[in-house]
Amino acid sequence: MSEIDSLKAQLQDLQTKALALFADASDSKVLQELRVAYLGKKGELTSVLKGVGKLPPEDRPVIGQFVNATKTALAEALDKAEALLSVKEKELRIEAERIDVTLSGRTATQGVLHPVQQGFDEMTAIFSHMGFDIAEGPEVEDEFHNFDALNIPAEHPARASHDTFFFHAEGDEEAKLLRTHTSPVQIRAMQACVDAGGEPPLAVVAAGRVYRCDYDVTHSPMFHQVEVFKVDKDVSLANLKGVLQHFLSAYFEKDVPIRLRPHYFPFTEPSAEVDIGCVFCNHKGCRICKGSGWIEVLGSGMIHPNVLKAVGIDSTVYSGFAFGLGVERLVMLKHGIPDLRLFFENDVRFLRRMGSST
Ligand code: PHE
Repeated sequence: MSEIDSLKAQLQDLQTKALALFADASDSKVLQELRVAYLGKKGELTSVLKGVGKLPPEDRPVIGQFVNATKTALAEALDKAEALLSVKEKELRIEAERIDVTLSGRTATQGVLHPVQQGFDEMTAIFSHMGFDIAEGPEVEDEFHNFDALNIPAEHPARASHDTFFFHAEGDEEAKLLRTHTSPVQIRAMQACVDAGGEPPLAVVAAGRVYRCDYDVTHSPMFHQVEVFKVDKDVSLANLKGVLQHFLSAYFEKDVPIRLRPHYFPFTEPSAEVDIGCVFCNHKGCRICKGSGWIEVLGSGMIHPNVLKAVGIDSTVYSGFAFGLGVERLVMLKHGIPDLRLFFENDVRFLRRMGSST
């Protein structure tokens, strides 16, 4: 075979092999490598061209054309294969990224408000509608706000009956304690008013946690109270009774009879415990009200002049009423919950059943 024929045959071979490889290339990276291997500077075609120098000069243009034709054929085949692969790869990518929008989603379980929180919300809403402002106070209190200013001086027997959790934080001069009731919010709200240069009228509702070192079937060391008070000129016991009557009927969603029984609290004078007609037997007398037809629900009274004095409000001009109630107790009565401990055990079956209907 002549030199030129052998070169032609080599080129023919090369083209056949290359086209087959291009057609088989599985992805564009492989194709890129093939492009370099055949058409690159050090590629197959270049190495065949090296043989051209040995040809007689008249044959060179002939083979030159042949080489160009091969080069064009390879380049076209590569472009075609690349275009095909890029379509295929795009399809694969789309398929891989496909989202099945018909799959059902993960269901989010809906929580419910704890019955104590529901109690807070319902009660504060009733007072809020009556025009009372909502206030808060700290759970870590000092003796002044929890006791002294509430007319419970040191050595007063009422201090002992409060079963207080005391603690000394490092660097504290005076003792700190966990508030035993929400009544210190009365002091703080009145002080804030006076400090701001204001004057009564003041009508406040405050809900929060309180603590007593006491634990048995009907007592928890942490429980919740709602405190309500009003200070103005000419506030009377009749105002207290009216607000109580309205609140208790609104909360229990029926006309409940109420009665005020004389009692003693250091920070009110006169003081009264408030009973409602038993909600279980409709005031007739049952096991729960011990046959009396009445159930005690809260403590109340007319704010003691010493309390007003402690915060700098003139008790000859202003008077006020106050009451404080145990939230768990009222929620238990409203919903017939038999055991205080249910509030603190976090049994989801109980919490769900008590779940907010809102
Ligand atoms: N602070 C009292 C208690 O915890 C309740 C109360 C509040 C009584 C306001 C009278 C007036 O028992």
